[in-house]
Amino acid sequence: MTALRIAVANQKGGTGKTTLTVNLAAGFHRRGKTVLLDADPQGSARDWARIGGSDSDLPPLHEVAADEVRTRIAQFAAASRFVLVDCPPHLQSVALGQVLGAVDLVLIPVQPSPLDLWASIDMAVAVKDARSGNPRLRAYMVLNQLDSRNALSRSMHQALAEFEVSALENGLARRAAFRSAALEGGSVYRLGGRGKSAVSDVESIIKEVLSI
Ligand SMILES: Nc1ncnc2c1ncn2[C@@H]1O[C@H](COP(=O)(O)OP(=O)(O)OP(=O)(O)O)[C@@H](O)[C@H]1O
Ligand SMILES: [Mg+2]
Repeated sequence: MTALRIAVANQKGGTGKTTLTVNLAAGFHRRGKTVLLDADPQGSARDWARIGGSDSDLPPLHEVAADEVRTRIAQFAAASRFVLVDCPPHLQSVALGQVLGAVDLVLIPVQPSPLDLWASIDMAVAVKDARSGNPRLRAYMVLNQLDSRNALSRSMHQALAEFEVSALENGLARRAAFRSAALEGGSVYRLGGRGKSAVSDVESIIKEVLSI
């Protein structure tokens, strides 16, 4: 068995990396054996899983240090179907390069404003560099905290079109359910009716990822 290895990364802080990783991990876990790697020394994903305890719907989580992330991804990939890696902000470029060298896909959450997109330019450079050693690396932006009432602004469409890394068609809307899930130590799948729309966001991303 060899897993689909997905890193969620952005050098910019607070763009939704942990929210996206944890909920995707729960969705993938429903499809096959999944491992969640927390490569962030802040331990946000670890804390999230701890709140849920044994009652949580999250897959097994392992904390990994930057210098061992490569070997740990390979180790878990050999025995799972999906490996997800939550990366810290301000990751040293060497460590980021190691992660990008060890995965099939990197998802880069960004908020839907041109300023946030341009603040993620380092990621586009890192992806380009990583492709010299990992030519099959795929990379997509994932729009997060979309305002469900409004379409993207024209300037955002233009900025996305000019950006080297393309965006997935599906993103996450800004929804209270994503915050509630973290507070309750599980994913949006466990929220029942309260999480329905959020689950649909996550499912659309998973289906898109599995079809590309
Ligand atoms: N789609 C969303 N809807 C509502 N709240 C969200 C959404 N995505 C993220 N948030 C909230 O935004 C904050 C930042 O999200 P998160 O911690 O996932 O970002 P991060 O990129 O992992 O941050 P860091 O760079 O510190 O690791 C959190 O309070 C989270 O609950
Ligand atoms: Mg985080």
